[in-house]
Amino acid sequence: MKLDHKLHNDHGARAAPDIERHAHHDHSPHPNPIMAHDPVRHPAGKCKSAPGRFVPEGDGAQGCRSFHGSAGLGLRRVFIEALQAAPPDNVGFYEIAPENWMHIGGKAGKLFRSLTEQFPFVCHGLCLSVGGPAPLDETFLLALKAFMAEHGMALYSEHLSYCGDDGHLYDLMPLPFTEAAVHHAAARIRRVQDVLERRIAMENISYYAAPGQEMAEIDFLKAVLAEADCDLLLDVNNIYVNSINHGYDAEAFLKAIPAERIAYLHIAGHYVEAEDFIVDTHGAPIVHPVWELLDRTYQCFGVQPTLLERDFNIPPLDELLAEVDCIRALQKRREANA
Ligand SMILES: [Fe+2]
Repeated sequence: MKLDHKLHNDHGARAAPDIERHAHHDHSPHPNPIMAHDPVRHPAGKCKSAPGRFVPEGDGAQGCRSFHGSAGLGLRRVFIEALQAAPPDNVGFYEIAPENWMHIGGKAGKLFRSLTEQFPFVCHGLCLSVGGPAPLDETFLLALKAFMAEHGMALYSEHLSYCGDDGHLYDLMPLPFTEAAVHHAAARIRRVQDVLERRIAMENISYYAAPGQEMAEIDFLKAVLAEADCDLLLDVNNIYVNSINHGYDAEAFLKAIPAERIAYLHIAGHYVEAEDFIVDTHGAPIVHPVWELLDRTYQCFGVQPTLLERDFNIPPLDELLAEVDCIRALQKRREANA
């Protein structure tokens, strides 16, 4: 298995998401065959939490689908036709930004629906600004809840960050690592979970400044997860990027993660600006140290569902699928050695 890839040059920081809205939306419900055929319920009819398993609860959820040992791909509109025509074997689930797909119609909407009928999908939000000062957009949350129910999606994740107040910055701003920010973010996450009637997962973000820092990043992350009682979308590349930019031990950070809260993993490429400065671009292939950290993550927590993120310098689909194959190969090797 080839684990090291050549870096593409990409100076872009996280930029404006490609939000496109269309008027037509087909609201007719459909059964999700994967959910229908692979329900995992405890006797009370709700789903028990377990590492590596998405855990929907409440009215919006129809069942649980196990993603254990699967590799996922962020769905991009440009690939939807090819994926629908010839679904790749190694893609066990897809991730979408709901802001980009909630109101899509026409041919793309039909293709999207065809995929959600056949494959597990998760929602990874971009714009909720969970840690921000502006009131939560509960109109959006209710629309999101209906969208997830309509497409049989089990999990919603967002970034532990904020992205605006009155305006929208289209970037992920770091929260101050303070007690006050823990309480603020946790209360809002709890509210999101109440509205959606399910647990959500928060992602550890990459950041380039830590204003007003009172505690270590890992302590902040753990405090929010505990106080909000939510799950974690663990971005392995973000651990690596932050460890270089802020000079900490990535493996020590990894070992301090509360295993029981991990819902799934992200892995992505980045841009190396200097020996001690990396930009989290999602615009390049994954590099060897990040593959190694992913393997260490599997060693620490067992094989977890792992999603390949690629948002810029989008290569041909075959190149992305080759990286998904690498994730799968790593998972199989670790499972064989377990
Ligand atoms: Fe991520």
